[in-house]
Amino acid sequence: MKTDFDRIINRRHTHSYKWDQSLKLFGDQDILPLWVADMDFESPPAVRKALEARAALGVYGYSIKNEAYVDAIIHWYQRRHGWTIEREWLSDVPSVVTSLSIAVDVFSEPGGSVILQSPVYYPFYDVIRMNGREVAKNPLVIRNGRYEMDYDHLEELMAGGAKLMLLCSPHNPGGRVWEREELLRLGELCLKHGVTVISDEIHCDLALPGHRHIPFASLSEELSQITLTALAPTKTFNLPGLQSSFIVTANAAMKRKFDYRVKALSLHMTNFFTHEAVMAAYNEGEAWLDELIEYVAGNVEYAIAYLAEHLPEVKPMRPDGTYLLWVDCRGLGLDIKGLKSLMFEKARVAFSEGSAFGTEGQGWLRINLACPRSLLTDALERFCEAASNRS
Ligand SMILES: Cc1ncc(COP(=O)(O)O)c(C=O)c1O
Repeated sequence: MKTDFDRIINRRHTHSYKWDQSLKLFGDQDILPLWVADMDFESPPAVRKALEARAALGVYGYSIKNEAYVDAIIHWYQRRHGWTIEREWLSDVPSVVTSLSIAVDVFSEPGGSVILQSPVYYPFYDVIRMNGREVAKNPLVIRNGRYEMDYDHLEELMAGGAKLMLLCSPHNPGGRVWEREELLRLGELCLKHGVTVISDEIHCDLALPGHRHIPFASLSEELSQITLTALAPTKTFNLPGLQSSFIVTANAAMKRKFDYRVKALSLHMTNFFTHEAVMAAYNEGEAWLDELIEYVAGNVEYAIAYLAEHLPEVKPMRPDGTYLLWVDCRGLGLDIKGLKSLMFEKARVAFSEGSAFGTEGQGWLRINLACPRSLLTDALERFCEAASNRS
């Protein structure tokens, strides 16, 4: 392995959302943060080089979107996902959540219902409710230790008038990389009931060995016409602070509507730095990503084995993808307050508390595994010890 993912990088006092908010959020400056989904690894060296060269220009004027940037995206999706994206299907947006929010605004009616599958990444709820829509909740069901979709209930929601769905694929926090048959069955229902799909595929590049991400819009021509896919290189290459994202839709009318709103909000201008970083990542970061996935897969195995040995009352859900581990802690017999106190006060670690992902997440915790193994070990030790000694 060329990259030293074991190297500890001190991110404190860098205005880090993850590392420099512990006192404010958890009441303890020195808590180990394994919550928000950014990684404690340096991005691929080519990204840093590209940013340094850009910074060295010294004049930071308005930028234009260049063709090489679009090529880098198109080639990446062709190579890694076998998905052919046409140039005119793409638009830039500052972030994936921006796209989700705009999509709710332009593709649903005020007061209308928007489907999500809970538990799910918490901004899904915000973008629905804060745009004055209702959450139409389709809880995932656990079968054989993993989440599956409840198609009967989904169809009831669609037949009941919900005409927009926010799909999380791969799924955060459950780590499911949805399989072709699952997505096709979902697609059938959407086509039958005239439902538009906003597919958040930000974790698409992080399928773990043995799993393959399938872009929902790539399944068929018909499905590509009802789908807007929200994508970004930011999880893949650890660039979330650069705020770089894009949408893909083959439906020209949908794209026009979406772009109009982006322009109305004046979110269409290109950041001076991001395109250079994204090009470097997609064109030169592939080997780095393969190594990263191997390292994360090692952390997944390590964490699952560690928990099984030291705290068998908790049951991790083995992820197919993402660097997030969703752990069922209901066996500890603690309520939300108790789990928070166990983490923040007794163990002095910050995982994400599960009820933030919806009521179905109550009693669960989400651990961010994208950190050096030694840090993960420290966090697991602290947590298991505190949990074993809880009174
Ligand atoms: C499913 C999902 N969508 C979106 C985001 C955030 O994307 P962005 O920072 O581009 O809004 C995350 C971050 O964790 C995520 O897990």
